[in-house]
Amino acid sequence: VAVHNNMTTRELLANRVTEALYNLFPDETNWDPQLTAATRPEFGDFQSNAALSLAKKRKMNPLQVAEQIAQNIQTNDICEQPQVAPPGFVNFTLKKQFVASQLQKMLADPQRLGISPRERKQRVLVDFSSPNIAKEMHVGHLRSTIIGDCICRVLEFLGHDVLRINHVGDWGTQFGMLIAYLKEVKPDALDNSSTTSLGDLVEFYKAAKKRFDEDSVFQESARKQVVALQAGDEDCIRAWSFLCEQSRKEFQQIYDMLDVKLIERGESFYNEWLGIVCKELEDSGVAVRDEGALCIFVGGHTGRQGKIQPLIVRKSDGGFNYATTDMAAIRYRVKEDKADRILYITDAGQSLHFSQVFEAAKRIGYAKPETKLEHVPFGLVQSEGGKKFKTREGETVKLKDLLQEAVRRAEEDFRNRLQAEEREESEEYIKRVAQVIGIGAIKYADLKNNRTSNYQFSYSKMLSLQGNTAPYMLYAFARIQGIYRKGDLDLTDGQSESIQFILDDPTELSLAKMLLQLEEMLFLLERDLKPNVLCDYMFELSQRFNQFYENCPVLKAESLPRRTSRLALCKLTANTLQLCLHLLGIPILERI
Ligand code: ARG
Repeated sequence: VAVHNNMTTRELLANRVTEALYNLFPDETNWDPQLTAATRPEFGDFQSNAALSLAKKRKMNPLQVAEQIAQNIQTNDICEQPQVAPPGFVNFTLKKQFVASQLQKMLADPQRLGISPRERKQRVLVDFSSPNIAKEMHVGHLRSTIIGDCICRVLEFLGHDVLRINHVGDWGTQFGMLIAYLKEVKPDALDNSSTTSLGDLVEFYKAAKKRFDEDSVFQESARKQVVALQAGDEDCIRAWSFLCEQSRKEFQQIYDMLDVKLIERGESFYNEWLGIVCKELEDSGVAVRDEGALCIFVGGHTGRQGKIQPLIVRKSDGGFNYATTDMAAIRYRVKEDKADRILYITDAGQSLHFSQVFEAAKRIGYAKPETKLEHVPFGLVQSEGGKKFKTREGETVKLKDLLQEAVRRAEEDFRNRLQAEEREESEEYIKRVAQVIGIGAIKYADLKNNRTSNYQFSYSKMLSLQGNTAPYMLYAFARIQGIYRKGDLDLTDGQSESIQFILDDPTELSLAKMLLQLEEMLFLLERDLKPNVLCDYMFELSQRFNQFYENCPVLKAESLPRRTSRLALCKLTANTLQLCLHLLGIPILERI
């Protein structure tokens, strides 16, 4: 069995189990090692359940099969002698020596902590954030932006080729109304587009909508503007660009505050292919005409009155829609971008839409059989108590205000702390700390929840120094880094290899084993796209560090080799926290 340079401890062991199974049962066709992390501490670190299913299949005694595996397996370099437990588990406990040698590899590679980039690099397109022009960028888009950015960071770290795409809603019938209204109230906007400001765009949208709803003559002119826009009328295109530009500036402020990078490729980008897509769909028979509309019957989803709800790609009035654009987008992303995997980060409410679009794309062949199309859904943001997320006045919350409020509160907390500790810090430094903690708290609070559940937004909880929060993690990092720095350990090039890890105390060993799990955790995240595993990992790691620090003197350790080993454990913990925070999109503070 080949050993790859980026095989996790679990994979390494799994291969050994497979090898043993193959030797024992060469006539089998499936040598699945069924190796998982141990379900109970007394089982050691890993367990294989392979004996159970094999015994059943071969009508043998599972305990005996487990015994045979334990006798046959070659794991001397990794584990203690494997133990068998009823009804037929094989349990593995890592050797201290093995753990220590893995730690050394991590220590020698502070940037990547021994995790090499994937050998099979994928091109992954992540469609995230994606607000709508001239409309409010709301908390749902904030979630998409934060979760999407974290997923991109993890995939990038693992060596994939990631395209960060902002599929903004910059096309569609709402523009008829907006352009008609713009021409009415700001006729000069087009000639002085650089100096004209619309003020609050959302207010502008609301006013246009009101006008539209109340006046049938206006409705008619709005419709004409849509037709003219789609036909490429110069004036309309200018008005449209002007509106997009105004929105873009506002969105960019949010992205800057969050430090998130995106490539804008909105719905309008696919405009020229919408007609072709409909023709291809109809010609191939994947789509059929139904009551004048062009429909794809996929999935058998029933709507009202028990009628099957098709995916409509052209309305009976000839107009294209959201689904048409998404079909064209998959076509482009596979054909031109050469994407192997496409991820859509939106709220769970769009699940039906995506399952239909994916199925249709597979049928027509826009997506290859091996192309992975994944909707990555998330739950709602709610107020405390599970209510709708609104301001006290019942208005929707502006994202900019929301982010600024978190920073303001973080600053207040920090100033109080400085005062209590009678510390003086520069204004610049205070602002920096507030920024990192405030924005970090918002991101962390979002990411630490299972993304499919709704989560309750609470400034006081997310900014708390206790519990699984950004401030807690940032302080933990600074504190551990501080201990390490006081120790004056020389880890410059070449020095780290000579460091011997001594893992005699149970808390040292338990911390060390948690450090080794980083890679496995990232592989899980790469597969399941659930950032909360990263937060849970960090929290558990910091807990184990605390236990270690309570039990094992570091700077005043009983001997020099122990002191060195413990300082190196501090350094590895700090490096790991730093990397995890970075993957969550949170910068570290060397001291707070
Ligand atoms: N603009 C949409 C919204 O605000 C999200 C777009 C998601 N991406 C996509 N390819 N449909 O809900």
